[in-house]
Amino acid sequence: MIVGVPKEIKTAEHRVALVPAGAESLAGDGHTVLVEQGAGLGSGFSDDAYRAAGAEIAPAADTVWSKAEMIMKVKEPIEPEWACLRKGQVVFTYFHFAASEPLTKAVIKSGCVAIAYETVELPSKELPLLTPMSEVAGRMAVQEGAKYLEKVFGGYGILLGGVPGVLPAEVLILGGGVVGTNAAKMAAGLGAHVTLLDISLDRLRYLSDVLPANVDVLYSNRHNMLEQLAKADVVIGAVLLTGAKAPRLVKRADLKLMKQGSVIVDVAVDQGGCIETTKPTTHDQPTYVVDGIIHYAVANMPGGVPRTSTLALTNATFPYAKKLARLGWKAACKQDASLFLGLNVVEGKVVYPGVAEAFGLQLADPQSLV
Ligand SMILES: NC(=O)c1ccc[n+]([C@@H]2O[C@H](COP(=O)([O-])OP(=O)(O)OC[C@H]3O[C@@H](n4cnc5c(N)ncnc54)[C@H](O)[C@@H]3O)[C@@H](O)[C@H]2O)c1
Repeated sequence: MIVGVPKEIKTAEHRVALVPAGAESLAGDGHTVLVEQGAGLGSGFSDDAYRAAGAEIAPAADTVWSKAEMIMKVKEPIEPEWACLRKGQVVFTYFHFAASEPLTKAVIKSGCVAIAYETVELPSKELPLLTPMSEVAGRMAVQEGAKYLEKVFGGYGILLGGVPGVLPAEVLILGGGVVGTNAAKMAAGLGAHVTLLDISLDRLRYLSDVLPANVDVLYSNRHNMLEQLAKADVVIGAVLLTGAKAPRLVKRADLKLMKQGSVIVDVAVDQGGCIETTKPTTHDQPTYVVDGIIHYAVANMPGGVPRTSTLALTNATFPYAKKLARLGWKAACKQDASLFLGLNVVEGKVVYPGVAEAFGLQLADPQSLV
């Protein structure tokens, strides 16, 4: 198979869908790997590194799109790329179709086979191609919180871990899933005192067993949250109700309880945020201040550390890509029930219920298409 890797062209997107190690493995299986010139540079991978791994470097995106039988990307195709999509071509990437009707229509019209990272699902209900980005965002949330607590960034001027004789910072984490757990580990490792709230008692029991002693876990209700909010130096928003808008746990009036110069990092911003005063920001202008509280709400936090994010993402996506290349999409999806759930649009037909529901489109049965 010819596997193509175009350079990402969405603003400030520096990740790449395949690293040289992956190219080497695919080339070793006998596939042709076509990488657009400069595609890996934003993540620290040179064209020479891909060449050494057995890939061919294409001078322009057009060559990659027109020759490849399977395209590997990171972000959904954006408008200038829609004309490149073609019938029968497999496109393996994040799509987030339900967020964009024009994208959905363009992919339907193209006749390509769209396999979305975000809906690949394990029997445990885990979303293995989303998890690595939540791990990155959770860990990064603590770095950002610590940074904006510094006076020079407008913060209260407190060191997360304290020093002997001086108490550490208080970190409050709302939600103990992938983001929250990774944030808790990092904050605890830096010596902060952490309080993590979740509504799942099973999850709290598990976290209480595995997290270090400077993390307290607490049942999430409004009373407990307000009590903790008054003490917090950093609040990390990490709640998720699958498929729904994040619940607005912290109201604007609640900010008055918080210390001036404390920091909110609302990682859940991509689902609307769990703080009433959250509005999405970018890496260029990551923060704003409301009632003396610094808000950090970057919607694509992993984009700030593209090298780590690319490696983390491709560790998870690559085994599926290898299977798709080896067996072809039909046999690969028949054999792998998790990958099967990644099928969203197949040769002009919508096969993922959430996408059909979002735009009132007819839903086809993917079983009949594989
Ligand atoms: N900003 C970014 O760049 C970025 C990157 C990755 C993930 N995210 C977002 O971060 C959020 C969290 O993702 P995740 O992977 O950790 O999800 P997850 O499903 O693993 O965890 C969510 C947790 O929230 C808990 N929860 C639900 N309601 C709650 C409540 N009222 N109080 C306390 N806890 C509650 C759930 O029990 C669950 O444990 C999502 O919105 C995700 O899209 C953002």
